[in-house]
Amino acid sequence: MTDLTATPPADLLSILIAPHAVLKARAKPVLDRDADRVRALIPRMFATMYHAPGIGLAAPQIGESLRMAIVDVAEGDARQPLVLVNPEILAASTELATREEGCLSLPQQYADVTRPARIKIRFEDADGMRREMEADGLLATCIQHEIDHLNGVLFVDHISALKRNIIMRKLAKEQRIKAAERG
Ligand code: NI
Repeated sequence: MTDLTATPPADLLSILIAPHAVLKARAKPVLDRDADRVRALIPRMFATMYHAPGIGLAAPQIGESLRMAIVDVAEGDARQPLVLVNPEILAASTELATREEGCLSLPQQYADVTRPARIKIRFEDADGMRREMEADGLLATCIQHEIDHLNGVLFVDHISALKRNIIMRKLAKEQRIKAAERG
């Protein structure tokens, strides 16, 4: 088994902030020849996500346009790391659920997003094994949010243009202030 969480803190990756071309692009499928690259990225992505902290991180967010994401919605110290390589949604419930979402690529920005309440997905795990699983609640929301990233879609693409513009302007302003503070 791959150890998903062990990595030195110095190995953190930098997270792209929206707007960015890689965040808008459809990511490429992970092929057999990408296996070594993906294996090396997974522990670094977990370290980066736990450090942020966040509950999901997709490869495009760290500048790798590959169909791969990680998720961990466990609370507190109990970790439930999940690696999704080439994930696909096989089925989604007609019942919807609305949750407040945020994103490490849109720091400090939040909005209510409505999505299917339950999904069934197919993916490959960290060891390249084909798997299927069903998810509901926060996990279902998080997985759909991460799969969106692989298709160049951000949570703000699910809300009205008016709300999206307000968030993107606020984010740009906060990023300018942060950059100025760094000198
Ligand atoms: Ni996100």
